Amino acid sequence: MKNILVTGGAGFIGSAFVRHMVEQHPEYNIIVYDKLTYAGNLDNLLPVSDEPNYRFEQGDIASRETVRRAFQAHDVDTVVNFAAESHVDRSILNPDAFIHSNTVGVHILLDESRQHGVGRFLHVSTDEVYGDIEPGYFSKEGDKFAPNSPYAASKAGGELLVRAYHITHGMDTVVTRGSNTFGPYQYPEKIIPFFVTEAIDDKPLPVYGDGMQIRDWLYVDDHALGVATALFNGKSGEAYNIAGEHHEHNINVTHRILDLLDKPRSLIKHVPDREGHDLRYAMNCDKLRELGWNRLYTFDSALEATINWFKENEWWWRKIKTGEYLEYYKKQYAARLAAAE
Ligand code: NAD
Ligand code: DAU
Repeated sequence: MKNILVTGGAGFIGSAFVRHMVEQHPEYNIIVYDKLTYAGNLDNLLPVSDEPNYRFEQGDIASRETVRRAFQAHDVDTVVNFAAESHVDRSILNPDAFIHSNTVGVHILLDESRQHGVGRFLHVSTDEVYGDIEPGYFSKEGDKFAPNSPYAASKAGGELLVRAYHITHGMDTVVTRGSNTFGPYQYPEKIIPFFVTEAIDDKPLPVYGDGMQIRDWLYVDDHALGVATALFNGKSGEAYNIAGEHHEHNINVTHRILDLLDKPRSLIKHVPDREGHDLRYAMNCDKLRELGWNRLYTFDSALEATINWFKENEWWWRKIKTGEYLEYYKKQYAARLAAAE
């Protein structure tokens, strides 16, 4: 392992992984390969942009030619694939991009990796492949897939291709399945950065339905460390859950955000629910713990640190909340807010 191609490394979790690897592992060359979609942002990589073991290449994982060029130019021997369309609501509005990047793109990246003789291929997946989880149960790595949104189905499709390349071609693959992640540099469409930045501006917070859905919250640096642990220590052909083990109803997360910002609860608007909304995600992550991973952050301290980061870094998010973002906001929320209770 020497030259590691990190696809999707200009996004939220990918950039946290890249910052960690570049700073903590000067023995590796980290090459970020990213299409720079609306969610890709080179500002996320500014802290490492001058480091000698960091490089950037713009490209689509679904484009064979550019993938091949990047493999050859950097003598890539390891791939860590974060690249994906990642927002469930957008997958309901426009699923095509999700099939393109999360399923077809994974296939092309795998096939080119095999032809180039790449060693380890780590694929970043999600707890959403398990679907809606009954109260009291925690998903294990061997459980069946039951994805419910176009996003989750496209991620499950990508994962199944990773499994097939391991079994059919003997590729050295490892999969991680992370839970809901939050922290600095998260695109302000996901609930925590969206609600924090809207509340700062005294705008309404659209809670889907009654807000009693449960998510398991994981701090981004703990997610990035989990991926690094699986990359270095994971067994070939295996999958590893990365869980925050902090389960909260959405309405409680919303209350905490408002309280920490000293904003009134009257900003909350209960709006019509997300279609096909999964009520609960929850995973067991003992398998990753056995590889030596442990979380370093608690939800409370990480949420406070995240909110402070957004308060102190308006330069980062204010320019995002323009143009395409406002178009998306209108499509996703205008009618919902008009129908709010
Ligand atoms: P993100 O949307 O912030 O970043 C995705 C990155 O991938 C962007 O930089 C984008 O430009 C790039 N990208 C998209 N399509 C591409 C393509 N075809 N070719 C090359 N680059 C492309 O996403 P994130 O929240 O950082 O998620 C990263 C990964 O982690 C995804 O695979 C996602 O499914 C998974 N995941 C996310 C969470 C979460 O809560 N955010 C939890 C579990 C798993
Ligand atoms: O579980 C892992 C997944 O977590 C990742 O694979 C996805 O990439 C990531 O986007 C995230 O998916 P969710 O759909 O759970 O995240 P989101 O932040 O969009 O929503 C979290 C919860 O908050 C969900 O129950 C929907 C609700 N929600 C979200 C938004 C954006 C609202 O009530 N209102 C909103 O405006």
